Amino acid sequence: MQRIEVGVLGATGMVGQHFIRFLEGHPWFDLTWLGASDRSAGKKYTDATTWRLDGTLPPHAAGLRVEESKPGNAPRLLFSAMDASVATEIEQAFASAGHIVVSNSRNHRMDEDVPLLIPEVNPEHLQIIPSQQRKRGWKGMIVTNPNCSTIVMALALAPLKQYGITRVVATTLQALSGAGYPGVASMDINGNVVPFIGGEEEKMQQETQKILGDYRADAIHPLDARVSAHCNRVPVVDGHTVTVSVELKDKPDEAALLTALSGFRGVPQRKNLPSAPPNPIICMTEKDRPQPRRDAERENGMAVFVGRLRPCPVFDYKFIALGHNTIRGAAGAAVLNAELMCSEGLLD
Ligand SMILES: NC(=O)c1ccc[n+]([C@@H]2O[C@H](COP(=O)([O-])OP(=O)(O)OC[C@H]3O[C@@H](n4cnc5c(N)ncnc54)[C@H](OP(=O)(O)O)[C@@H]3O)[C@@H](O)[C@H]2O)c1
Repeated sequence: MQRIEVGVLGATGMVGQHFIRFLEGHPWFDLTWLGASDRSAGKKYTDATTWRLDGTLPPHAAGLRVEESKPGNAPRLLFSAMDASVATEIEQAFASAGHIVVSNSRNHRMDEDVPLLIPEVNPEHLQIIPSQQRKRGWKGMIVTNPNCSTIVMALALAPLKQYGITRVVATTLQALSGAGYPGVASMDINGNVVPFIGGEEEKMQQETQKILGDYRADAIHPLDARVSAHCNRVPVVDGHTVTVSVELKDKPDEAALLTALSGFRGVPQRKNLPSAPPNPIICMTEKDRPQPRRDAERENGMAVFVGRLRPCPVFDYKFIALGHNTIRGAAGAAVLNAELMCSEGLLD
């Protein structure tokens, strides 16, 4: 297979850095282009950004020159981690110029003709792309990945969809790395919990319905389930935990649910995509797991860990899900999206 050149928009930001780290040594993709604002354009990457991730800045990326975020000499496949205040127009400009924009930004997630993709859950939503291109007159396309807590919950709910999900109540305990840099002030979060993350509850509610929805007659029909989320920031570095109570129309027994969760596989596993975890959901039987410090980094940060599945006295079942917010919830999610799109011939 011929290697594919890729670029990163918003490369100097926190999520941009996660992309650079995740793409290092990728078996299909070569990172050759970095874009950011005019403030950074023209500088060497190492001079344009302060590397804030563990380990050192990959030397190849360090030497690349940061470009203006305008279509021109960028590779066809671009990952986007731009500030939400500018992502709408810039992503559209690249898609219009023929680029394939695989975005982590929130701007286009809820557009009716844009897939909000989790490759294991809703790969068929990619079928909306021809309609996106037709309606917008684009040669390129935009595909998005979900918000970092939504992806954890939606992956864990996907195997339960067959039993008819009717209501979901979820509470998050979200890591600091999800707030970017410098994030939440230390005086606000040390030894504390902040029970508000702007826009997060709405994203979890709406995005989950879209992700678990069905593609029919050239449209994505949201799942007809009520979803209520409570979102909290906690003093954890990496790993979003979500406690979930779910009501199901059919009333499966606990063993059936456990089998559905632990046996869940998707197209990425069947196609053995490079970033796909062998098991997207790992069920834990220990009574006090999963825990962010002990589990989030396992499986290269790409699996969701589910534990404490038990009956719920209000709905039918309740459980805990955990995922790595900057990997499965951001850079890793987008890279797996691009791998799926490549394998489906969307880059040909
Ligand atoms: N932080 C997270 O964990 C997280 C998680 C999920 C989703 N997100 C989403 O991912 C996106 C990036 O978040 P972040 O935390 O990485 O933000 P960030 O650290 O503030 O980085 C923003 C990036 O956007 C670039 N940018 C700003 N203005 C621009 C312009 N006019 N033209 C082109 N590029 C411009 C910046 O370039 P300069 O350095 O040149 O200014 C920088 O590369 C946001 O949409 C955010 O909502 C973040």
